[in-house]
Amino acid sequence: MSERSDLYHSTYSHFNEHVLEAVRKETFGLDIGQNSWVTVDEYDHFVPWLGLTAESHLLEVATGSGGPALYLAKRTACLVTGVDANEEGVTTASQMARASNQSSRVCFRVADANARLPFDDNSFDAVGCSLFAHHLEPDELVRFTAESLRVARHALLIHDLVRHPAHLALSYLGFPLYRSRLTRHDAPASVRRAYTVEEIRKILEQGAPAANIEIRKFYLFRMGVIVWKPLTI
Ligand SMILES: C[S@@+](CC[C@H](N)C(=O)[O-])C[C@H]1O[C@@H](n2cnc3c(N)ncnc32)[C@H](O)[C@@H]1O
Repeated sequence: MSERSDLYHSTYSHFNEHVLEAVRKETFGLDIGQNSWVTVDEYDHFVPWLGLTAESHLLEVATGSGGPALYLAKRTACLVTGVDANEEGVTTASQMARASNQSSRVCFRVADANARLPFDDNSFDAVGCSLFAHHLEPDELVRFTAESLRVARHALLIHDLVRHPAHLALSYLGFPLYRSRLTRHDAPASVRRAYTVEEIRKILEQGAPAANIEIRKFYLFRMGVIVWKPLTI
């Protein structure tokens, strides 16, 4: 596991404490157990865009402690498999699935998304990841996209930050509000590592085996990128 994903240990090991739930609700508008600046509106947008239905099976990569995966399963009644490199995150996610009676539709396991994903070709309808792409260098992003399109029948959804000077300034302005050392380190570092819309389009167009790439921008410097799989791979 990389040092960066290891940083999440302390966050995930006490993720369900009521005070943290209250902070997430205050910050994101609705607490779905997210560990990133992800709003429910964005997830609701992704459901029709990806065409998720009760018959779909989604692989959520870098799922963290599972909140967004569980939200999607509840919202669409689809099957979700979540993977993360962090064992604490996976343990907490599995506990949350049991506590919300969703273990029959949602499961979690440890996997490194920088390596070959431990699934057969075309095992899922789609692969999604939130706030993970900025952890990857351009060549890693291309490899991850190709690997995701191997295990997906239709598409990869990349949901991530957009790098912009005003976004970096905002991440520093938020310092008095951040409660954890991790957030104070991670917020500006994540913005610095993030891609612009033009960069991610160019990297994926040049390197990934895509039929089509659609990019939509969301409020406060975030983007959704869908890489549609060609019929021939
Ligand atoms: C910012 S968190 C996002 C968590 C979740 N997707 C969300 O939006 O709440 C980034 C996640 O990426 C995971 N991660 C980092 N590198 C990884 C890798 N190589 N393979 C799998 N997961 C990784 C971390 O453990 C962490 O849970």
